[in-house]
Amino acid sequence: SADRASARSERVGDPERRGDRDGGEGIRIADETVRMRLQLIGLGEADLAAVRAAAPRIRPKLPAIVEAFYDRLLAVPELRRIIETHRGVDALKRTLHRHLEEMLAGVIDDAYLARRQAIAQAHVRIGLPSPWYLASFQVLLSEIQAALAGDPAREAAEADRATLAFAKLFNLEMQLVIE
Ligand code: HEM
Repeated sequence: SADRASARSERVGDPERRGDRDGGEGIRIADETVRMRLQLIGLGEADLAAVRAAAPRIRPKLPAIVEAFYDRLLAVPELRRIIETHRGVDALKRTLHRHLEEMLAGVIDDAYLARRQAIAQAHVRIGLPSPWYLASFQVLLSEIQAALAGDPAREAAEADRATLAFAKLFNLEMQLVIE
């Protein structure tokens, strides 16, 4: 399986396959360093498949996940102040919903990375201290984990795989955010 993983990442690195949107592969990243970091955290095609498989169960719960996320942020006076002096919580809920919805597609390509870097920049501009930013990813992960675990129709192993996959996707995003 380690051999399969490395063969897979070689294919991902093959310029002929890069940008191939019909190949059924979710990882299409040109940047070699980013690819090596994905390999380090073991974020691969199986994770993206797990996210896609869980997507129909997570999607209906996104509004509740987003609500819970902002409830927890707004309980922190410093974060409440930042949120209220900028866009307002309703607009932010919509952008976070879209952000999570996009993750459910289970595709990581250069455009995905670029969008997340731009989002990270938006948070630098508003002066959000990095420790709060990083901490808030755990809030999202916990909400997603709870949403999957609380689903009576769930298959436990599948929910675990999807939760781990989200942990890796958030780790990637944290890498981009502190870069
Ligand atoms: C903007 C997601 C953490 C406050 C945004 C946007 C997204 C997003 C997708 C829209 C960016 C754009 O329009 O280009 C996230 C994610 C977070 C996170 C995924 C972590 C898991 C936080 C935290 C705060 C915050 C902890 C606390 C204050 C804001 C504000 C904006 C914003 C005020 C508007 C920025 C502007 O007006 O340019 N966020 N966010 N975010 N976020 Fe976050």
